[in-house]
Amino acid sequence: MTSLFDPYDLGPVRLKSRIVMPPMTRTRTTEGDLPTDGDVPNALMATYYGQRASAGLIISEVNDVDQSSHGYARVPGIHSEAQVRGWRVVTDEVHRRGGTIFMQLWHVGRLAHSSILPNGQAPVGATAERAEGSEVFAHGPDGRLRFMPVDTPRALGTEEVSAMVRTFANAAANARRAGFDGVEIHAANGYLIEQFMNSVLNTRTDRYGGSLENRTRFLMEIVDAVVAEFGPGRVGVRLSPFGKYGSMPADPLTEETFLYVVEQLGRRGVAYVHLLYELLPDGNMESAEFKPRYLDHAMLAKARAKFPGAFIWCGGFTDRARAEASLDTGLVDLIAFGRPYIANPDLSERLRNGWPLAVADRSTYYTRNGEVGYTDFPAYSNDRAVGKAA
Ligand SMILES: Cc1cc2nc3c(=O)[nH]c(=O)nc-3n(C[C@H](O)[C@H](O)[C@H](O)COP(=O)(O)O)c2cc1C
Repeated sequence: MTSLFDPYDLGPVRLKSRIVMPPMTRTRTTEGDLPTDGDVPNALMATYYGQRASAGLIISEVNDVDQSSHGYARVPGIHSEAQVRGWRVVTDEVHRRGGTIFMQLWHVGRLAHSSILPNGQAPVGATAERAEGSEVFAHGPDGRLRFMPVDTPRALGTEEVSAMVRTFANAAANARRAGFDGVEIHAANGYLIEQFMNSVLNTRTDRYGGSLENRTRFLMEIVDAVVAEFGPGRVGVRLSPFGKYGSMPADPLTEETFLYVVEQLGRRGVAYVHLLYELLPDGNMESAEFKPRYLDHAMLAKARAKFPGAFIWCGGFTDRARAEASLDTGLVDLIAFGRPYIANPDLSERLRNGWPLAVADRSTYYTRNGEVGYTDFPAYSNDRAVGKAA
């Protein structure tokens, strides 16, 4: 039986356990001094991530690779010096407390609203198809932040796609300067990279559309460029085969694409593939009913055979027994606990000792209320010391 608390060698990085804190956007950034600074990480965020440093691996909330990627308000980025400096404070604190932290990088593509893009410009996408029914956190007509239906995108030109690859490479170089141990490329949940990979949505006729090789070219070029910046073994990729999040159309070629992608990622020295094991419902994850539905193990076994690196599964894990039963399938190496990490900074210790888990209030997931619902959850032993129930 594999224990969640066995160490794991992820490429050159030794993780102290199999427990992963997956990326979670929490909108606690500070507005930069200059418009080009973007939204900037701060000392409060350093406290939040530092509190969770007993995880085997922390993957940061997602980061914009440039300003055109700013689909959601208060999401940090890694394209300005102010952001590099802000993240350095976070990584120093995580490392001081013995943790390991990767940065998640994205471009939102069509999942964006012009109210928060530079000069009110339209979002960009693999094609000009709008994500009907999807919403992002942006300014409403009254100027207040709220969930708003996304705008219609403009399709990126061929040379713009190649330039975007370089943008990802620059972002990775910045993440390295900011002290991250590695990066995760967000190729899941209906954002730009997945928009290219989906055979129904991607109707392009240039070298980034059509065949399997063409639809996955954007991801592979990004991976090559980012691995060149960070070194092999320090780059992971997040994938969500069969996911419908972000209004992704059902794709009859999903399994074929997925197996090809993991094989190619293995050849490129990618350290891990991070899978949405429990499929997210359509549309807004926060309001939609959550019905468990898992990836098929027969498909995962085929993927396992094609990829020599680690697999992470994420989605719906809340206890040690189920996580360890999953490790025992031999199909997965690391287990991510998302929402449980919000209210349990000491999740690792709670799972190890069988202590009960606290539950977060959803209304604080994305607020700007600073520490409320963010850094104010006590560790379990502290609860007991002050006589509070966990
Ligand atoms: C508040 C919140 C923010 C999230 N932000 C991100 C994100 O920035 N990037 C990402 O890939 N997934 C994000 N997710 C998805 C989580 O990483 C995870 O896949 C999802 O919560 C399911 O796992 P769980 O059942 O363990 O919570 C977010 C989820 C939540 C609840």
